[in-house]
Amino acid sequence: MKIGILTGGGDVPGLNPAIRGCVMRAIDFGWEVVGINEGWKGLIEGLTEPLGISQVEDLMDKGGTILGTSRINPYKVEKGVERCLENVGRLKLEAVIAMGGEDTLGVANKLYKEHKMKVVGVPKTMDNDLSSTDYTFGFDTSVTLAMNALGVLKDTGKSHRRIMVLEVMGRYAGWVALFTAIGGGADWVLLPEEEIDIDLMCEHLKRVYERKKVATVVVSEGIEIPRKKIGEEELDQFGHMLLKERGVGEEIAKIIQDRLGIDTRASVIGHMQRGGAPTLFDRMLAVRAGVKAIELVKEGKFGQMVSLRGTEMVEISLEEAVGKLKTVPREWIDFAHTLFK
Ligand code: F6P
Repeated sequence: MKIGILTGGGDVPGLNPAIRGCVMRAIDFGWEVVGINEGWKGLIEGLTEPLGISQVEDLMDKGGTILGTSRINPYKVEKGVERCLENVGRLKLEAVIAMGGEDTLGVANKLYKEHKMKVVGVPKTMDNDLSSTDYTFGFDTSVTLAMNALGVLKDTGKSHRRIMVLEVMGRYAGWVALFTAIGGGADWVLLPEEEIDIDLMCEHLKRVYERKKVATVVVSEGIEIPRKKIGEEELDQFGHMLLKERGVGEEIAKIIQDRLGIDTRASVIGHMQRGGAPTLFDRMLAVRAGVKAIELVKEGKFGQMVSLRGTEMVEISLEEAVGKLKTVPREWIDFAHTLFK
């Protein structure tokens, strides 16, 4: 048996431990494993590398993905799907494990449904926005990095008597911003899921600032600021805007400074929250997901995705998994507001 593994979409800490989990379990069954380079692009172009014990044994603490990644969508490339199918045949792959978020797994689902490609999905995204799994690996590490950055901003903000704004990633789901704000003890958070109330935020920040001479705000990159005009937006092959270009944190800082007359600074953590050694939580989740994916292949459960439910690794159909994004519900927003005093 020969199987291929690919990692697509934005990289996250945890992908390497997940690859390690796959290879270690495949060794138990005597299977050959190859890495497909740079996501679906590698399957279109037939780019592979061998994956054996020596390639994976030291991967538990390594960020990124040794296989490389891309946001290439075979359905948007001329003859992309045909070339993927041809390469599966040419490389004699009896199964493909696709590690990715809704875009990468959406392609996996279509290839399975339309062409019977034998795929198993492994969910990963720092945005934690996949609805059919409790957590995705990458999220915990990203939020830990952002939370630590917020701590740094508090120190410098307090010294200079400033309000500090931290813009974090997360796309159209506010999980990263929410958990950064709660975990880091921020004074306010702005999420894509909640209509922005500038008056309420400024009144609150004024009170906080009077009490402690510093205040912090976490802003999700996906928020809509009422007056903001978005010009020509660049879209990727999955139709997503490149949100980092929008500078919403900077704009919120300016609004706060203009309203309150308090010196305010904005920082964007950006890609610094997407690399480095994975946290223990992400390592455990990722390596378990990798092992489980191989077990699903062994059982012939194609068109399925590994999922964390409570403390158990289970499987769920890709169709169900990519159907709907998981956004922050009202209860979580209310919970965060309870902590802003
Ligand atoms: O989906 C993961 C993510 O990190 C988003 O939070 C962010 O908007 C996007 O990827 C950034 O993409 P890129 O690495 O292509 O700039």
